[in-house]
Amino acid sequence: MPLHYLELETHEAVALIRFNRPQVLNALCAAMMAELAGVLDQLEQDHAIRAVVLTGTAEAFAAGADIKEMRDLTYMDVYRADFVTVDWERIASFRKPIIAAVAGFALGGGCEMALMCDFILAADNARFGQPEIKLGTIPGAGGSQRLARFVGKSKAMDMVLTGRTLDAQEAERCGLVSRVVKADELVDEALLTASRIASYSGPVCMLAKEAVNAAFETTLAEGVRQERRLFHSTFAIDDQKEGMAAFSEKRRAQFSHR
Ligand code: HXC
Repeated sequence: MPLHYLELETHEAVALIRFNRPQVLNALCAAMMAELAGVLDQLEQDHAIRAVVLTGTAEAFAAGADIKEMRDLTYMDVYRADFVTVDWERIASFRKPIIAAVAGFALGGGCEMALMCDFILAADNARFGQPEIKLGTIPGAGGSQRLARFVGKSKAMDMVLTGRTLDAQEAERCGLVSRVVKADELVDEALLTASRIASYSGPVCMLAKEAVNAAFETTLAEGVRQERRLFHSTFAIDDQKEGMAAFSEKRRAQFSHR
């Protein structure tokens, strides 16, 4: 499938997806999101890929949904098309680990997209915000919900109601990003982190992701029950036997991803 709005590279078991619309700071148009969903479908089917990095360019991860594309849409247009659900939600349903590596602007839909990934590595020049209020609208791709879960009510309200941007340090302090690295080391660090994840058992990483995600969907008691079932299920996976045998035999585990 030829890609117009994205670049896709593979680094052994890691796929690197890069938004490639730098002339508009990677504004997320419908065609780009359709490409992204198609690439994620393909990567989910590809058993040789065990982790993904989603990144942008030096100036922007993504400066939001494409304002010029959506400005004249009517209520009927967006309701009928379930605008910013189809294709956009594909990241949230992606079953393998996916890291957002954010440099520059991650605004509006760009910030929401990063929030749909499993965690965010930020360059020291990263800027996060939900500026939709300035455009007469509100976050529409889960921002109000995921942001509140990541950073709590006060910071989420501050961001959504003022539209102000957070620099990388503030984003790290409030738990929006897992860590901040130098801008010119961002992609290498993200690839290194993803390679480390990919060196573990692929199916066990998927179960681990499912377990953590349950914390955002359910009660503590139900989440712990789900975790217990998922934990028990690892005992049916060859890699659990190999991992524990390798520890006992003082050697490096050779995971078969089965
Ligand atoms: C379309 C965009 C864009 C966007 C930037 N551009 N953001 N085009 N949609 N979201 C375009 C500009 O029009 C311009 O192209 C080019 O990118 C460079 O942008 P400049 O504004 O000239 O750059 P700069 O002065 O450095 O300012 C950077 C910026 C600013 C602060 C990020 O571009 C900005 O405020 N962008 C909009 C941010 C925003 O409101 N995002 C939320 C969108 S709403 P031209 O051809 O004009 O020179 C949203 C809704 C989410 O995301 C709901 C569900 C997903």
